Amino acid sequence: MKIICLTTSPKENAKLEEIAKSKGHEFRFIDPRKVYMYISEHERGYDRFYYGEDGDAPERINAAQVDCVIPRIGSNTDYASSILRFLVENMGIYCPNNPWGHIFASNKAFTLQKLSSSKIKVPRTIVAESPTHVKWAVEKLGIPIIIKTTHGSKGKTVAICDSKASANSLFEFCFNAGLKVIMEEFIEAGGTDYRVWVVGDRVAVSMKRTAREKGEFKANISQGGKGEKVTLSKEDEELCIKAAHGIGLNVAGVDLMKDTKTGTSYIIEINANPGTRIIDITGHNPFNDIIEYCEKNHKTKLSPNGTTAMVSDLLVDGEFMGKVGEMFRQNQIFKNHMGEVLKDYLNK
Ligand SMILES: Nc1ncnc2c1ncn2[C@@H]1O[C@H](COP(=O)(O)OP(=O)(O)O)[C@@H](O)[C@H]1O
Ligand SMILES: [Mg+2]
Repeated sequence: MKIICLTTSPKENAKLEEIAKSKGHEFRFIDPRKVYMYISEHERGYDRFYYGEDGDAPERINAAQVDCVIPRIGSNTDYASSILRFLVENMGIYCPNNPWGHIFASNKAFTLQKLSSSKIKVPRTIVAESPTHVKWAVEKLGIPIIIKTTHGSKGKTVAICDSKASANSLFEFCFNAGLKVIMEEFIEAGGTDYRVWVVGDRVAVSMKRTAREKGEFKANISQGGKGEKVTLSKEDEELCIKAAHGIGLNVAGVDLMKDTKTGTSYIIEINANPGTRIIDITGHNPFNDIIEYCEKNHKTKLSPNGTTAMVSDLLVDGEFMGKVGEMFRQNQIFKNHMGEVLKDYLNK
């Protein structure tokens, strides 16, 4: 295959390049900041993209020069995600993920909303645009309470409040600082959670993460958490697969928490661009699974129509959507969600 990887950080994805080349594929990093979308006519073949690294004029890249695009784009890269949509929807290039899935995953409120509509257990969450009824919200969810920004990663913008007063003041602070936040019920898991790499219809690798010290609730490796390779129960694996597919992703890092007392599993968030530290920690390189998945599936080109492509894509890969009746229901849900996504974009 001729593979391009859309990313601003080739270094972070060196192991993807290594594995792709070792399997005999052509591989190239494409920095989304250097891409020019050339939008002309809707028909495939007329839209094209140009890549300007150096020199006077950027080079033209045809769809025929690319068999597969692997996105490794972060949560705050609006331009990168519109390029991904362009490559898939306008130019018809295969991507293991639905580009819209990256938008759902980049916003924790969208993610939880979508997961809940797919009947997946998530922490009870209140999304609010106004600080008027914080006291009511805190009473509903209980203390301690988790407050996190809708966009964020590596545990950097996730906070815990131990009293109603601190929850109230933090929420007001965020509101007045113009931050979009959500409030979540606290899941008591002893500072542990699980990072689960879903690739296609299976789990490639899972790691249990434990916070760096007793009393710390964030288990992110970038917050000093320690990771170890684990094998999840079949039910938990299925939950993670269903969650990833539920937002349109075949490749994702799903965060799962298990309540220490009840053993209940919750999906906390889904990462469309999961970090690569799991490779050294577990000794398993999930990029290998991704390349194999693309080898098998890259001939299934998507139609330029995003909605149809997304729904049929999920029908192929999402087990739980493998019923005809379900297709129509999901189609409607996606249309509604996409309406919201577009509204959000237009308001920016
Ligand atoms: N509702 C919650 N209850 C308890 N701990 C939580 C909750 N939500 C998140 N955490 C902890 O905080 C970490 C970061 O939260 P997460 O939502 O995954 O944000 P990020 O995108 O920054 O990783 C999680 O890995 C988990 O350890
Ligand atoms: Mg996380």
